[in-house]
Amino acid sequence: MKVLVLGGGGREAALVWKLHQSPRVSQVFCAPGNAGIAQHAKCVEADLKRPEKLAQLALELGIDLTICGPEVSLVAGAADAFARHRLKFVGPSRAAAQLEGSKVFSKEFMSRHHIPTAMFSVCDSVEAAEDILTNNFHGFPIVIKADGLAAGKGVVIAQDLAEARAAVQMMMVEKKLGEAGSRILLEECLTGHETSFLIFTDGRTIRPLPPARDYKRIFDHDEGPNTGGMGSVSAPGLLDEYLQGKLLRKIAEPTLAALQAEGIVYRGVLYIGLMLTEAGPRVLEYNVRLGDPETQVLLPRLKTDLVDICEAIADGTLDQLNIEWSDEAAVCVVMASGGYPNTYTPDQPISGLKDACQVSGVHVFHAGTSRDDLTGKYLTAGGRVLGVTATGQTVATARERAYTAVSKIQFSGQQFRQDIALE
Ligand code: AMP
Ligand code: GLY
Repeated sequence: MKVLVLGGGGREAALVWKLHQSPRVSQVFCAPGNAGIAQHAKCVEADLKRPEKLAQLALELGIDLTICGPEVSLVAGAADAFARHRLKFVGPSRAAAQLEGSKVFSKEFMSRHHIPTAMFSVCDSVEAAEDILTNNFHGFPIVIKADGLAAGKGVVIAQDLAEARAAVQMMMVEKKLGEAGSRILLEECLTGHETSFLIFTDGRTIRPLPPARDYKRIFDHDEGPNTGGMGSVSAPGLLDEYLQGKLLRKIAEPTLAALQAEGIVYRGVLYIGLMLTEAGPRVLEYNVRLGDPETQVLLPRLKTDLVDICEAIADGTLDQLNIEWSDEAAVCVVMASGGYPNTYTPDQPISGLKDACQVSGVHVFHAGTSRDDLTGKYLTAGGRVLGVTATGQTVATARERAYTAVSKIQFSGQQFRQDIALE
């Protein structure tokens, strides 16, 4: 069969790599893909924000199954457009994608269904926000969030009133995040250990993914600004089994039941971001898709054919599928451009990729690369450039392999964390 992956980053590189291995797949397409993805898929131009065009593309290419990586397409209604054309699609509908597309929707949803989360206030104006802040409604530090999609830049943890006011100004007056900041949330700041819990669901049955952790800050020891993710690790035992059971019963199942109660059939991956507080787990956010770079460490551990999983999700037959994962560990170290997560210079030649791929257990997933037409050399073309991933019997082995591969790769300005999977 012919499959199409929507997106063009490291997560999609891992999806394409996995689908390419399936005996059921004759050809993989990726829209828009990237230079590295082109090793395993035919890359086609696409605007990820135009659902109808994406569905037309799938029709033209004769696609049997489409898997959506990024939230933008889901929030724009890709699942609905594909459904209109009776095309098989993995990813939730526009209504369900509001869980990520609008933080206000998501908080009000949790509140309506008694799903544990931080206390919050919704503010439509600077005056309303000022009122909450001066009355010290949620205490300090306080969390300030833009309602809409803001590519990871929409959350500020303000230590005091001055910082909080500055964040409100930035979002609502200066409109630095565009429309995303026209409504904001003020939230109680939770403390504890942060974790994520990912599930596959067809709207009725839940199949949890193994635990994976990402490293969001740019520098070692979780210092510096937030990024899209500088690395990840997945291994058995990363999350206590008892806790996993609890997250399933207390968070994932009630979430699915709440979606059903609202008449929403959720088909795809639900990524639940959590804070494990002393008072119990609290949902920080929902994402309506696979994580990036969590996918890069999860898929190498997947033993079941990904196509079987995708079909079961799309067809509503997940209850009949047993999903198997290997007991191996996987570690992904992201190599990023100098200056990321702020501005960076693209088009830096990358060397050593072949050597890196020869390290045992290593896969290098391209997140942001292009190819020089003349020399055929790979060039940097994004903030996050490569996800150097390795599997191994233990986290230590996977880690060592990943860093050995990283040491063979070079591009001007490269930066990566040294402490991925260390703690
Ligand atoms: P979000 O996009 O909502 O997950 O927020 C991004 C990051 O901000 C999370 O990964 C947390 O580290 C932090 N965060 C979000 N909400 C809260 C909260 N209520 N209390 C403490 N930290 C938070
Ligand atoms: N790694 C976090 C995310 O994909 O949102």
